[in-house]
Amino acid sequence: MIEVKDLVKRYGKHVAVDHLSFRVKKGQIYGFLGPNGAGKTTTMNMLTGYLAASEGQIVINGHDVSEEPMEARRCIGYLPEIPPLYLDMTPLEYLEFAAELKGISKDKRGAEIDKVMGQTQIREMQDRLIRHLSKGYRQRVGLAQALLGDPEVLILDEPMVGLDPKQIIEIRELIRSLGKKHTVILSSHILSEITSICDHVMIISHGKLVASDTPENLGHYMKNSDMMELQIRGSREACEKARELLKKVKGLEIKTAAASLEDVFLELTSGDPETAETEETEETEETEMEETETEETAAEETTAEVATAGGAAAEENKNGEEEEWNAGDL
Ligand SMILES: Nc1ncnc2c1ncn2[C@@H]1O[C@H](COP(=O)(O)OP(=O)(O)OP(=O)(O)O)[C@@H](O)[C@H]1O
Ligand SMILES: [Mg+2]
Repeated sequence: MIEVKDLVKRYGKHVAVDHLSFRVKKGQIYGFLGPNGAGKTTTMNMLTGYLAASEGQIVINGHDVSEEPMEARRCIGYLPEIPPLYLDMTPLEYLEFAAELKGISKDKRGAEIDKVMGQTQIREMQDRLIRHLSKGYRQRVGLAQALLGDPEVLILDEPMVGLDPKQIIEIRELIRSLGKKHTVILSSHILSEITSICDHVMIISHGKLVASDTPENLGHYMKNSDMMELQIRGSREACEKARELLKKVKGLEIKTAAASLEDVFLELTSGDPETAETEETEETEETEMEETETEETAAEETTAEVATAGGAAAEENKNGEEEEWNAGDL
């Protein structure tokens, strides 16, 4: 499906990707794991044809990325580290635009957009401006864009970054379900995230592939360790009994773990989903609010709204350059 041979990327004297070789088989979920600066994004940008390699070869579905870039790109859906979104569009407008750029014929566009909106569960947000969406929903819109055209390979760069635990679980489930039909490559520097989703893990360090195996086999590297994590769940009384029993084993050091913060978070926020019913601030109101920004007499509630409106404006400026960059590249 994907074959990478001796891939190198140099930035001046700095070698960001150093003779990387690997193969990706059809219908599996692969994880790129590595610390910050390891070369994950650089590798993904080369796989998707966004960046030219200094040396080496990438073949996707029989198409060499440097010789047949369009054919190779057609097989790939890409969610970059920073999703290429247009904040002044609604998800529906943005997906229509992206579908057109991807060359999806007019008669198929509607059904295709509806399908990806269903997969990523963004239908209820389809008419809201992207600038008014939460980070999690923006990430889903980026993912919907990657899914357009039903590409065989999905390349997702840090798809869970910046999401809250509930959103992480939802995106994790979505990626798992996508992995049944698509070949998925995703990057992360969070070990637990990768092990819970991926069939195969590739660990990259300083641009080099230092390990490539299943999560289980990688776990065996630690088999000689004298540490074992044992989880006991049950009533307080039963847990205490189990602890007393374990105490009888000579030479055993027992540490009691606190309740999982993830469990607590989910319990406390379970009845608090973001819905389309949340009032959307009108553009005209925003302008009015910006004008009142300096008024010190504003009520506390209004001040909070002003801060939001100001933040959105700042974000627009911050992303202006990025949007232009994406316009040519989509
Ligand atoms: N345009 C560039 N010019 C110069 N150096 C770059 C450029 N882009 C990336 N690098 C360098 O290449 C190396 C790999 O960067 P890359 O973004 O691929 O890492 P990463 O594994 O994705 O890290 P992170 O987990 O932080 O996203 C880093 O040392 C980075 O500083
Ligand atoms: Mg990166």
